[in-house]
Amino acid sequence: MQISNKVSSKPYNTFNIDLDIDQLITIDDVSDFEYLDIDLTKILVLGGGSNILLTDKLTKPVLHINTKGVKVVNDQESYVLVEACAGEEWHDFVLWAISNNFGGLENMSLIPGKCGAAPMQNIGAYGVEIKDVLHAVKAFDKTSKKMLTFHNSECDFGYRSSNFKTIWKDKFIITSIVLKLTKEGYHVLNTSYGAISKTLEEKQIINSTIKDVSDVVIAIRQSKLPDPKVIGNSGSFFKNPVVEQSLFDAILKDNPNMPNYLAENGVKIPAGWLIDQCGWKGKVVGQTGTYKNQALVIVNHGEATGEEIFNLSKDIQRSVKDKFNIELEAEVNIW
Ligand code: EPU
Repeated sequence: MQISNKVSSKPYNTFNIDLDIDQLITIDDVSDFEYLDIDLTKILVLGGGSNILLTDKLTKPVLHINTKGVKVVNDQESYVLVEACAGEEWHDFVLWAISNNFGGLENMSLIPGKCGAAPMQNIGAYGVEIKDVLHAVKAFDKTSKKMLTFHNSECDFGYRSSNFKTIWKDKFIITSIVLKLTKEGYHVLNTSYGAISKTLEEKQIINSTIKDVSDVVIAIRQSKLPDPKVIGNSGSFFKNPVVEQSLFDAILKDNPNMPNYLAENGVKIPAGWLIDQCGWKGKVVGQTGTYKNQALVIVNHGEATGEEIFNLSKDIQRSVKDKFNIELEAEVNIW
């Protein structure tokens, strides 16, 4: 465990927001929790800070989870159970799985953030979500100070949501994730997402491997999403809204080419498209703005404050509401 005072928040959030952290506690091993003598219910936990917008002072202690390690904990004929510590970089973990020929994570290549944050909002991309491969989540209970294990069915995973983000918010610190990954001969490739099948076809790859799918996903993401190491961002800022059929029909009348997907209780419309239609794509507002290739991604062009980014997100919400009568909900957590 390391404790430092007055450090910059910049390396601890992918928006690159620069605020003073009064006290930063870095946890390198789960056994560190035994020696932590602070009220854990009053702290901010940061993994890679890939899904948070820091807008307020960081006067409470900040806990940075930096535990490392990936291991196979159960090896069967068709699958393995792999445990990854919360502080492992998600994409490094995906690459580790692919190099070991363990399948299931390839569509989620290059998602920024750490393994510990992945189940919080049920990360997903190109037709696969972590819930599809997640076996269990291990977490430290801030109140009872005990380690607990939650199985997949207990977490109530939904679209960019889980109990960790809703009813259990701030109750637990995720320490590791256990995933069920397929072995050679048992892989189930998911190439149904248009952009993946199109790119595989263009490259004339017929019997694609998990590595091929990962490479294609990396190429697609690099072509339309900014690298947080270069331009601060938090991926999609808003969720894709699901609207009632009647509202959808009304919007479709004026916009016959509007992309859409059938959802359980209505029609899902890409938030990026709605924001784009309101003229926000690539717009620069002071030090912030939206990304030139994907309007759903709000970026920090350098020295933006959290407040500036938050204000832009509110302006975007207002224009989408005015033009389409749709309320966009932030996907990113606001601190
Ligand atoms: N679109 C536009 N203009 C834009 C952006 C998008 O017209 O500026 C249109 C696209 O042409 C496409 C549609 O909107 O027809 C959907 O766009 P895209 O395929 O890029 O996907 P998305 O719905 O914007 C979602 C996830 C991403 C994930 C991709 C791929 C959400 C909120 N976002 O984006 O997740 O990578 O699908 O699966 O569900 C994230 O959560 O941080 C994230 C990046």
